[in-house]
Order: sequence, then C-alpha cells, then structure tokens
Amino acid sequence: MHDCREMPRIRERERGSIGIRHGYVPMTLGHQGLSAVVRDVLAARLPEYDPWLYRYCGNLATERGFATYVRHKRDLLRFARIDPRSARVLDAGAGFGFTLLVLAWLGAEEAHGIEFNAPMVETARAYLPRLPAILSERIAIDEGNVMAMPYADDCFDAVLSVEAVSHYRDVEAALREIHRVLRPGGIVLIADGNNGLNPLTRRKTREIWDAFELGTSTGGVHGHNVAHVYQLEREKFIRETFPDIPAERMARETFAMTNPKSEKPASATSASGHFRARSTTATPFRRILPTGRSSSACSTRTPSADSSRRSDSR
Ligand SMILES: C[S@@+](CC[C@H](N)C(=O)[O-])C[C@H]1O[C@@H](n2cnc3c(N)ncnc32)[C@H](O)[C@@H]1O
Repeated sequence: MHDCREMPRIRERERGSIGIRHGYVPMTLGHQGLSAVVRDVLAARLPEYDPWLYRYCGNLATERGFATYVRHKRDLLRFARIDPRSARVLDAGAGFGFTLLVLAWLGAEEAHGIEFNAPMVETARAYLPRLPAILSERIAIDEGNVMAMPYADDCFDAVLSVEAVSHYRDVEAALREIHRVLRPGGIVLIADGNNGLNPLTRRKTREIWDAFELGTSTGGVHGHNVAHVYQLEREKFIRETFPDIPAERMARETFAMTNPKSEKPASATSASGHFRARSTTATPFRRILPTGRSSSACSTRTPSADSSRRSDSR
C-alpha cells in the first residue's frame, strides 16, 4: 500500500516548499517537444517493450495521431473540469501509460497509473528513463488491479478511467475502489467508447460479432481481420468430436451474442448501470464531502477492513 505521505513531492508540498501552482510544463516543453519525446520512445524499440505497443500506440509516432491523442485527453479534462496543474491524478487502467505523459506535461504534480497487464507496465517503466526529468519525475506506474488498489484512502485529486471501464470485470468493485482513493471533492472521469447505451457503438459491435461468427465477404470489419469463421469452426469441432449430434444446428444455436433473446438481459444490465450519459462517451462525477470529514491531505490510514467499512457505509 502506498501511503501518499511517503511520496517525496507530496512531503515537500505539505511542508510548503512547492507552491500550489508548479506551473505548466508546456512552458518548457512545447507540443512539438512532447511529440518528439513520444516518437523517441517508440523508435527506441527497447527489448523490454511489449510488441503490442506498436500496434496499439504506433500512430502516436505521427504528428496527426499524436495531436489527436493529446486533444482527446485535453477535451476530456476540460469536459470534466479537471485542472491537472499541481494535482495528483490517477489513470485507472493505464495501458502503456501515454495518458500519464500528457497529464505530467499538462502540469500534474503526480501522474499515477495502475495497470494489471505486466508487459504494459514493463514497457512504461522501460521508457520512463528516456523522458525529460521534468516529466519522468512526476510519473509512476504500478502493476495492480483497479478493484483492489494499493493506495491509501483519499489520495487523489482526480481519477481517470479512459477507455478502461468496459474492461473492468467487476465495475461496482472498481467504482468503490475509485471512490475510496479519491479525495473528498475530487473528480472521477469515466470515458469509454465501448458504451452500450450508444446506438452507433451497439451497431458497430454487433457488426463485428456477426462478422466473426458468420464471416464477411471482404474478410475485414471495422479494422478487424476475420481469419476464421467461428460458427464453421464449432461445427467442424462438434462433427469430429460428437459425430452423433446435429453439428450444423448445434453450432448455429450456440451463438448467442446477436441472438435477439440475449438482447433483453443485455439492456437490463445497462439500465441498472451507473452511466446515464447518452450523447457522450464521458461521464464526470464529483465526490461529495461527507459531513464531518476533512478535505485535507492524504490519510495515513493503511488499507484495511477500515476501507471496506467506509465503502459500505456510503
Ligand atoms: C484501452 S486501455 C486504456 C489505456 C489508458 N487509460 C490510456 O488512456 O491510454 C485499458 C486498459 O485497462 C486495463 N485494465 C482493465 N481492467 C483492469 C483492472 N481491473 N485493473 C487494472 N487494469 C485494468 C487493460 O489491461 C488495458 O490496458
């Protein structure tokens, strides 16, 4: 468990030696400068890098891809009214950590990421030393699960969940944890393009499922390559393994994703979910300060039954 008071920058801030506004990093490192840093990170091709990095983040090496990425993050922060300057921010499901770079560049005092995919964390840790110190000294990435985070209560001024909530296995548990580590009055921003309440997203997802299940005439769908048709593969498997049962029918009826019968439970789940925004993929919440609780710096409490008791009582 990280106790926020153990973080050196915070100790200094509490002693008053760091001003409230540390200042925008862009004053010293412009957009072009940051873009060059990211290009250098990708071009380094360090042996510790997960090969997935190039497929996933390769477009950050282009001016356009990088500009779009930064603009998206800035728009989200503006939308949620999060001012990262001098803030301690957490990216919950940080991937390869590039949002942390942008946060540090925008002046976040501390940009933390938590990510449970070890190769992604290793990749980020490998490239951190290549960054200018003004960025790297503000960034930390931990391997861990958003559903049980190694941070003390009330640690962060803001928590971001960017394109991550749709990956959480237990959204309720993750939100409880995010609430626990967020300081009273802090802001959580949840943004995810995989929003099942958005009709366009639903249609696209269905088209992808259908193409993988039934095949496509072109071989590709929304950037995915359909190399195998799942229904035919199941049929083949059933025929070879259970020659006595009707393989074609069994293969057809074991596909439920776009079956109308599955629609009802799926919409019931989204209706009882937390995310009401229909026209946008981002949702900001502000943590309300409970009566009688102080909004001052991080709690020294250690992780404990105490934190689960607190979550239950809210
Ligand atoms: C699409 S990436 C988002 C990357 C990052 N937020 C960004 O803005 O660049 C989603 C990440 O969330 C991670 N993830 C999903 N569930 C998680 C969990 N319960 N705990 C930690 N990481 C998780 C996945 O491994 C994946 O890397």
